[in-house]
Amino acid sequence: MFKILRKELLGPEMFLMEVFAPNVTRRVEPGQFIIVRVSETGERIPLSIGDFDRERQTVVIVFQRVGKTSYLLSTLNEGDSILDVVGPLGHPTEVDKFGTVVCVGGGIGIAPMYPIAKKLKREGNKVISIIGYRSKEHVFWEERLREASDELLLATNDGSYGKKGFVTDVLRELLEGGMKIDRVITIGPPVMMKAVADMTKPYSIKTIASLNSIMVCGLGMCGVCRVTVGGKTKFTCADGPDFDAHLVDFDEFMKRLSMYRDEEKLSFELWKKEVGV
Ligand SMILES: Cc1cc2nc3c(=O)[nH]c(=O)nc-3n(C[C@H](O)[C@H](O)[C@H](O)COP(=O)(O)OP(=O)(O)OC[C@H]3O[C@@H](n4cnc5c(N)ncnc54)[C@H](O)[C@@H]3O)c2cc1C
Ligand code: FES
Repeated sequence: MFKILRKELLGPEMFLMEVFAPNVTRRVEPGQFIIVRVSETGERIPLSIGDFDRERQTVVIVFQRVGKTSYLLSTLNEGDSILDVVGPLGHPTEVDKFGTVVCVGGGIGIAPMYPIAKKLKREGNKVISIIGYRSKEHVFWEERLREASDELLLATNDGSYGKKGFVTDVLRELLEGGMKIDRVITIGPPVMMKAVADMTKPYSIKTIASLNSIMVCGLGMCGVCRVTVGGKTKFTCADGPDFDAHLVDFDEFMKRLSMYRDEEKLSFELWKKEVGV
């Protein structure tokens, strides 16, 4: 059992939990993820690591309530426990002295970007973070990202805070302004990561995307998380979650993500009826 030490509401349908998980904090590095199971009969869902504290032996997860399991998780409170926390899973994000690195994060993807940006800066890179939200009420961790970066640029889709537009509008300005960028790392909605990859390709800037495929085992055995990268089949859990964004078949990836949409919706509706929410 993994005790929840802190719970915060970060915005509409967005929650933070700090969980006691010594099995994870012993080895975890930025870019990795965990798989949680909330109840005995529940499904296992992957969640990125937003932060970790080796001394306190805790990990921080930031999640959006989108369906049955994330809803169930959101009903747990401080003092409650999560049944299973498996991890750390996946490969850590490659961090070296690259030069100028632009971290492009969207929505919930901004949380796992934080430890990556922090590590990149510690290694001596110039870190420029571009973070984007739907609107002002969705903004979270702005100050954390500011601390972890040399420069922070913020956009909201509706212009209610920061620059009006998408993170790609901000990235375009940097690219067209002639800034020398050595690497781009992007985490967020697949459509955003695809747009980032399309934008950096003509400039030949190495771009890494962290993929959020549907997963079951998380160990490279079931094949559910498969993606096509450079024409080859890869498993996001065992080979990723980071991949060269210029080689990812994003159209296939997005199709696979929505494969079980009807079943997910039905399962959520039946569960809501059953528990009366
Ligand atoms: C490596 C990895 C890291 C992730 N990190 C986070 C995180 O830090 N925070 C977070 O909120 N979510 C994260 N996700 C997505 C998260 O796993 C899903 O939101 C969750 O599985 C949904 O479960 P559910 O039962 O609540 O909803 P479901 O009933 O399974 O799905 C409800 C809706 O969410 C969509 N959905 C389901 N799975 C995903 C997915 N993997 N990505 C995008 N949309 C999905 C479905 O299309 C559907 O419309 C991550 C996924 C992966 C693979
Ligand atoms: S989730 Fe099973 S192989 Fe990746």
